[in-house]
Amino acid sequence: MRISIPKGTKDILPDEIVKYRYIENKFADIMQNYGYEQIRFPVFESTELFKRGVGDTTDIVQKEMYTFFDKSGRSLTLRPEGTASVVRSYIENGMSSNTQPIKLFYNITAYRYENVQKGRYREFNQLGAEVIGSDSANTDVEIIAMLNMFFKKIGLNDLMLNINSIGCKQCRKEYNEKLKLYYSDKISGMCEDCKERYQRNPMRLLDCKNAECAKLSEDAPKLLDNLCPSCDEHFKKVIKGLEEMGVQYVINKKIVRGLDYYERTVFEFVMNGIGAQDTVCGGGRYDGLVVELGGSDAPGIGFAMGVERLLSSIEKEGIVLPEKARPLIFFAYMGEKGYLKARELVNELRSKGIYCEIDVCERSLKAQLKFADKKNAKYCIVLGDNEIDTNKAIIKNMLDQESKEVSIDSIINRIIENKI
Ligand code: HAM
Repeated sequence: MRISIPKGTKDILPDEIVKYRYIENKFADIMQNYGYEQIRFPVFESTELFKRGVGDTTDIVQKEMYTFFDKSGRSLTLRPEGTASVVRSYIENGMSSNTQPIKLFYNITAYRYENVQKGRYREFNQLGAEVIGSDSANTDVEIIAMLNMFFKKIGLNDLMLNINSIGCKQCRKEYNEKLKLYYSDKISGMCEDCKERYQRNPMRLLDCKNAECAKLSEDAPKLLDNLCPSCDEHFKKVIKGLEEMGVQYVINKKIVRGLDYYERTVFEFVMNGIGAQDTVCGGGRYDGLVVELGGSDAPGIGFAMGVERLLSSIEKEGIVLPEKARPLIFFAYMGEKGYLKARELVNELRSKGIYCEIDVCERSLKAQLKFADKKNAKYCIVLGDNEIDTNKAIIKNMLDQESKEVSIDSIINRIIENKI
């Protein structure tokens, strides 16, 4: 019986890999320009890290984690995101004694047991970054403006920044009371999830996608209108900075984000029309997370974007991404002498970093030329006894079918000097 790929996962095949690599390289380039360094961390962590980091009341922890016990009975979980791991690593590796802030980026797969639909998978790829050690609004401005620049660089002009502030623990305490009061006579109209949110995490009531709940939340008090003076000033400074940097935004008071660690600035870059899952990138401040995970009092901010959703947006905007590399020259051969010469030339060119191809399946000449076509080679040369003996071969441009006679000895130099 054939074994199929698990639901919500996919193979990323060569045609698509070039697109992933393009995005990943562009991301790494911009990260370097902004002084971020790359970090890698384990695919699995102690379950406790996500329970405490992402939060016990979140959908991720309650419903979506891939949790298992290893052979020693430890509870481990496949990472549903990267921030908790980066903060764990920051604490564990004593990064608080280095010059602050610490700026790290990552390129990871993440795992969530979600209802699968377009743009929502159980294994997906995230590009993300974290800045730990600065609570200044200027850090928020820099990180958001950087994302804006990244999206523009890859040609995505239709992504809209939605931004909000969900205040600090202090402003949220008072706000939650107001919110509960507002909802107190509406509980019967809520979905089952929201009934629980009402008890455990009222702010998330604003985030429910259920149509009835969304209607109920329309007139609910919003955190942005209930910030303490310090959070209010912080948010105003972020907005002023974004305006100064020419970053377009909409203030969306309903953004609360689905992870518990957020405080103050939260944001999403959203694109319409790529499926129900239109948030390409999400992020925000998490000023209490380092302490929550046992470290010193260090504020943080970061973001992550889903590469699959990014690629859907790119496709939707009609942006053409690089295709698979094509060989510069296909060396076809007839007979043993021809093969040995062709192999020698291919080997030398490859050692100089030039992509060329040769048949290694002992195909007939006709089949080799068909293969050259399939591989989309730009030029083709045929080497046989006659060519080797006379030191002359025909090089054919596969696009315009023009042929030129060249001496075999000159081929390497011609290619290197781009004089084919
Ligand atoms: P998040 O909003 O849970 O935030 O995920 C960030 C992005 O990952 C989403 O906007 C989306 O593009 C992608 N994503 C999430 N779940 C899925 C899925 N099931 N299938 C496909 N793509 C998905 C975080 O993960 C935070 N750690 C971001 C952050 C970093 N905040 C501060 N620092």
